Amino acid sequence: MNKTALDRSYWEDLYNSNKTGWDIGYISPPIKEYIDQLNTINLQILIPGAGNSYEAEYLHKKGFQNVDVIDIATQPLNNFKKRVPSFPKTNLIQKNFFNHQKKYDLIIEQTFFSSLHPTHREKYVHKTHDLLSHNGKLIGLFFDVEFSKEGPPYGGSLKKYSQLFSPFFTIKTLDKCYNSIKPRFGRELFFIFEKK
Ligand SMILES: C[S@@+](CC[C@H](N)C(=O)[O-])C[C@H]1O[C@@H](n2cnc3c(N)ncnc32)[C@H](O)[C@@H]1O
Repeated sequence: MNKTALDRSYWEDLYNSNKTGWDIGYISPPIKEYIDQLNTINLQILIPGAGNSYEAEYLHKKGFQNVDVIDIATQPLNNFKKRVPSFPKTNLIQKNFFNHQKKYDLIIEQTFFSSLHPTHREKYVHKTHDLLSHNGKLIGLFFDVEFSKEGPPYGGSLKKYSQLFSPFFTIKTLDKCYNSIKPRFGRELFFIFEKK
């Protein structure tokens, strides 16, 4: 399979065969901690490649009303509709992230970037930059490890991420994550990037 262009059917097949090893089943503690310090409830928030999106569920339950969830696959969005029936259906968007157009104050990243072939990383940087409003933020987690097996996931390092994002974003935080879940402990970086 050509892994540089993983399409919808690739992801649908993984969901249909329950091969969703990335799915931790609840909001990850570093992202929860970030959300807990937000005090502007009307932020426009995007979660791309959201999967089952426990982050969107958490935000919704905290009263955030402008949260968009995007995934190319239908199954996680259907799971989400069942799990969180009060979440507005129009904010559940089944689409290729790279074709999406809107402006956001905040984009939350978790294992979507790492699921993209490294040849698509620059495209991701440009797209997240385009989707953010003035001073908008891209925050989340990156793997701090180079995987020996062909991905996804594809890993990286602090130096690589810094080189990739710093021409377009001010790097506010890019540090070893201290509150990762156990299996990812020592293998993740938490970041906050602000649009330049
Ligand atoms: C590794 S999973 C991560 C899911 C979720 N963020 C999590 O951490 O549990 C990658 C997700 O990105 C979605 N995806 C892959 N390519 C996409 C694209 N071009 N546009 C939108 N979603 C995409 C997949 O369907 C899958 O749900």
